Amino acid sequence: MNFSIKTGNIVTLATPVLVLGLFDDGTLPPMTMTVDKATNKALSRIIKAGDIKGKIGDSLLLQKLDGCRAQRILLIGCGKAKELDAKKFSKIVKHTCKALQKHQLAAASGTLAALGIKDAGIERKAQLLAQNFVTCQYKYNTTKPKATKQFQVESVTLLLADGKDRAAAQRGLATGTAIGKGMNVARELGNLPGNVCTPTYLGKQALQLARKHKLLQTQVLGEAQMKRLGMHSLLSVGHGSPQSSALIVMKYQGAPASEKPRILVGKGITFDSGGISLKPGAGMDEMKFDMCGAASVIGVMHALCELKPRMNVIGVIASAENMPDGNATKPGDVVTSMSGQTIEILNTDAEGRLVLCDALTYIERFKPRTVIDIATLTGACITALGSVCSGMMSPDDKFANTLYQCGIDSLDPVWRLPLWEEYQEQLHSNFADIANIGGPKAGTVTAGCFLARFTKKYTWAHLDIAGTAWLQGAEKGSTGRPVPLLMEYLLKH
Ligand code: BES
Ligand code: MN
Ligand code: ZN
Repeated sequence: MNFSIKTGNIVTLATPVLVLGLFDDGTLPPMTMTVDKATNKALSRIIKAGDIKGKIGDSLLLQKLDGCRAQRILLIGCGKAKELDAKKFSKIVKHTCKALQKHQLAAASGTLAALGIKDAGIERKAQLLAQNFVTCQYKYNTTKPKATKQFQVESVTLLLADGKDRAAAQRGLATGTAIGKGMNVARELGNLPGNVCTPTYLGKQALQLARKHKLLQTQVLGEAQMKRLGMHSLLSVGHGSPQSSALIVMKYQGAPASEKPRILVGKGITFDSGGISLKPGAGMDEMKFDMCGAASVIGVMHALCELKPRMNVIGVIASAENMPDGNATKPGDVVTSMSGQTIEILNTDAEGRLVLCDALTYIERFKPRTVIDIATLTGACITALGSVCSGMMSPDDKFANTLYQCGIDSLDPVWRLPLWEEYQEQLHSNFADIANIGGPKAGTVTAGCFLARFTKKYTWAHLDIAGTAWLQGAEKGSTGRPVPLLMEYLLKH
């Protein structure tokens, strides 16, 4: 889809549909007021008649009005003027996109970016507008070829009051478009079934992206290479599966090689049955989403390839399928990780940390500036935080605070949980350096504590996205989170 910017008189603008906001107390934002005046108060009369209230979610499509050149006007409820913030603005944009889709209007001119918002300037508004429009257009249909396709809004023109905002709005549109597309890539990979999206498939997607973009290089390490590197913890997870495990390394180089890279490490379990510690049957299909951390890394790499910022970022994906089988790892098995630390696998369903720990050791060679791992790691994180925010853990207060703020700014929030020494005792093993589970208490924290033992050589944070990566119920599907948070961090810090 295509975004553009215009300034000038909105009353004389030729457009198939002009989008105008209104507040729920009947007051009108400045641009809506301009049209109201030009149409001899036609809008005021319609609002007074009660045809639209102005609450967020309300919309009303009008035919051409005398005095305004637009073929149609779409009124969009914006709630209370005083309460209008970035979060509400995003909702308003989504409702606008849905209304345009419903009425099959492929080209629109909008005034929403000119709304006054307390916590967002023009660049952020344009970003959120593009991001929400792009993600609103996505609908899964890859394995539903006959389903009705989502109607596509093809072009949106932002009408700005002030020409001096043009450059910032343009930047925001570019960023938001790239993030939206990156989220859609992550969603598609997450939604694909486990028999399509295997570790090999993820590797192919990463290789394909690198073929299209000069700044990206991808390398896929197979099982033999990983064995030579001593990654026996990662490899142990795939032993029960006919699918080969893979370590996918995607290097985005937008700055001189001397600049230290920021590294993202994604959990890529393409199906998590639990292995010999088999999960219960109900809802097990959702464990196809256990590669959403990996999907978010690929989504970010897509966004970077589009925006081409001057920085170095390495995306690493630790991928395997966790299945029960005669060859599968058993509870009580001890494996040696690449770091040399031995691990007693007490529960084969705590497999995410087993693939991540070797990837986190592997990346030491890149001398990272910072490292973030992203994983659908624990059901306990859903119990603790629900689906509103992701769990975040880091031993580094400054880094944790930075990521917290990025979460707030990108509307993709995280909440910090502790990684204190006291929790480490729960990972004691009589038969290895460390056990892979820490008992029933504080499951999200002990998972983070496990990873902390492998990340001492660099600045690191862990994101548990078990509650945020996908939706359940009628809207079941991957969300594309935390691509917005990760992009915010990469672009602003
Ligand atoms: N992928 C799961 C975590 C998960 C479960 C995410 C449900 C989202 C929804 C992970 O591999 C897992 O099975 N974790 C176990 C850990 C336990 C065995 C210590 C869990 O959370 O039950
Ligand atoms: Mn598991
Ligand atoms: Zn898992």
